[in-house]
Amino acid sequence: MIILRSQREIEKIRKACLIVAEILERLKERVQPGITTWDLDALSEEMAIERSAKPAFKGYHGYPYSLCTSVNFEVVHGMPSKKTVLKEGDIISLDFGVSIDGYFGDSAVTLPVGQINPDALALCSTAEASLYEGIARAAIGNRLSDISHAIQTYVETRGFSVVREFVGHGIGQALHEPPQIPNYGPPGKGVKLKAGMVFAIEPMINLGRADVEVLDDRWTAVTVDRRLSAHFEHTVAVTQNGPDILTRLAVSV
Ligand code: MF3
Ligand code: CO
Repeated sequence: MIILRSQREIEKIRKACLIVAEILERLKERVQPGITTWDLDALSEEMAIERSAKPAFKGYHGYPYSLCTSVNFEVVHGMPSKKTVLKEGDIISLDFGVSIDGYFGDSAVTLPVGQINPDALALCSTAEASLYEGIARAAIGNRLSDISHAIQTYVETRGFSVVREFVGHGIGQALHEPPQIPNYGPPGKGVKLKAGMVFAIEPMINLGRADVEVLDDRWTAVTVDRRLSAHFEHTVAVTQNGPDILTRLAVSV
């Protein structure tokens, strides 16, 4: 069952989401050659606690960290490590979530470390743009798979591939709520979207083949061909005024 959230509940989810957005923004500044993913994780946790929020991933199904740090051919759920030192030319996905007052927010970005090659850049921009293609379909009257289809079409038209094994999800009083939101599929299927539905939409796309595998650590998902992967995620509410991106910071002019 997909829970419909009142405007008041959406504002509670937004509170969590804005903390996530602000922390990701601050982490972005720290992504540069020489920093370890361990340091990024420590910073994310510290910043959440400072804001009275709880890191949502830590302890979730036994995940031991606050942040997921997926570097280069890692797709999602890369684990922070003192041994992973970022270097010029890498790309890194930072995936972060918190809860506060019982409500959750979840977002991810893929960032360049210094200068990256044109293929890597095209992969990252296509992943980000595909997220916005999906978000645009999170509108009353559309069906769930319209989001999926828009993402897949955008990505495959540009010669990249869509990861099948991981999906977006409902979010609110838990990190993961129904429905699952695949990043591929035919249009016009699944539930009709209604005001008050809140989704974490999160395309993961690859430079080479779509296939992924999970490493022996039981968390890190990597591409089978070890070519690059990128991941972007926003928490979005379906509203009378269209999709409301809850994990987007207000732009100040
Ligand atoms: N953003 C990811 C997701 O929605 C992060 C989950 S990592 C976990 O699935 F550790 F919490 F599982
Ligand atoms: Co998510």
